[in-house]
Amino acid sequence: MTTAAEANALRDAPVLDIDPYSIEVLRDPYPFHEALREAGPVAFIKAHGVYAVGRHAEAKTVLSDHARFTNAGGIGIQDIRKPGDFRIPSRLLEADPPDHTKIRTVVTRLLSPLVIRKWKEGFDRKAEALVDHLLEQREFDGVQDCAERFILEAFPAAVGVRLPRTETLAIGEMRFNQSGPRNALYERAIEAAQPYLAWFEESVSRQGVMPDSIAELLFRAEDAGELDEGIASNVVRSFVGGGTDSTIAGIGFTLHQLAKNPAQWQRVRSEPAKVKAAFEEGIRHETPFQVTYRTTRGATELSGVRLDADTKIGVFMGAANRDPRHFADADRFDVDRPALAGNHLALGSGIHACIGQMLARQESEALIGALARRVVGMELTAPATYRPINQMRTLDKLPMRIVPA
Ligand code: HEM
Repeated sequence: MTTAAEANALRDAPVLDIDPYSIEVLRDPYPFHEALREAGPVAFIKAHGVYAVGRHAEAKTVLSDHARFTNAGGIGIQDIRKPGDFRIPSRLLEADPPDHTKIRTVVTRLLSPLVIRKWKEGFDRKAEALVDHLLEQREFDGVQDCAERFILEAFPAAVGVRLPRTETLAIGEMRFNQSGPRNALYERAIEAAQPYLAWFEESVSRQGVMPDSIAELLFRAEDAGELDEGIASNVVRSFVGGGTDSTIAGIGFTLHQLAKNPAQWQRVRSEPAKVKAAFEEGIRHETPFQVTYRTTRGATELSGVRLDADTKIGVFMGAANRDPRHFADADRFDVDRPALAGNHLALGSGIHACIGQMLARQESEALIGALARRVVGMELTAPATYRPINQMRTLDKLPMRIVPA
């Protein structure tokens, strides 16, 4: 609660006249990130009438303080409680306690470290087979032939959903554009996904998921009354939405940096613990889930800046992960950076922190580990390109060559 004297001492957020959703910014967000951080602890984004934070300290505060910043308005730029034509909200991510707590408790039990460890052998086998194939090819696209191919095999088998490439990528692109403003990317992605909407509904339904899988266990939790009706399918939808494109992007970024920095690749090859560190640094350095939103419950303040009630605030995790106040030499990719996990915000923070993070780590470790054991060198054969998506950063192409050990 802010007293009247404190309220008078507050200042207004500086206005930033850059559109974070313009194609130029989506292709290269770093100048915008710097402008956002340097504008102050909080800025007002004129183009969309929302607040934004880009410094690590404020980003962490907003993510952690669910009493002042609600998720019920949705994690996109639109307030999904207002009239409009919105996507189907995530009943886990776009909910507050106690509803969120009830669902998260069940999902946490199903995705326990023990369950995830059991998937390790299958991930390792798939990664070895893929690396066999890549070593025969020598030159390939690190996105489509490596990161995508691995995740689209490993993730569905683990969780229990069927994810063919064309359909899955179209749905993913729609979801991450739909949480941004109604711009051309938004409209195009919705149109491109239309032919696959019915397939997606079916694949996250009780009939569509694989028997005895985590996905099916969610439906059983519904039968047992642990989850309300309709939650299981919604959570499976969140698994697919949260766990596919983001992990592909994270592996792609890690490979990109390792191919560009041969000394870093040799560090990863020479010390097995650096395999983990490489993925962690990969998602810090180029954060897949660039921005998430919260909504102020009432008028409040953040680092001395006045915030109106019921207003969206964008947490630019990509900017926070390169905040020089928090990370030394923040633009540099460095697998030797101390205490990475839990320090960057690529997997969120607070009660909504990524529930699939152990799974994403295990998948990426399997793939990068298999490459580290068998590939002595990797390099780019052309510059990498990015695919502009409103709320996600991801590579489009990563042309690369590998040399067997
Ligand atoms: C590198 C890969 C991944 C990244 C970068 C990532 C990123 C994130 C972030 C930033 C959040 C918090 C969003 C917010 O607070 O608004 C989150 C939440 C979530 N993630 Fe992930 N994620 C990844 C992998 C996965 C995987 C593999 C799954 C599959 C199970 C998953 C499922 C979820 C779910 C269901 C939530 C919502 C949790 C809640 O609201 O309690 N994610 N993720």
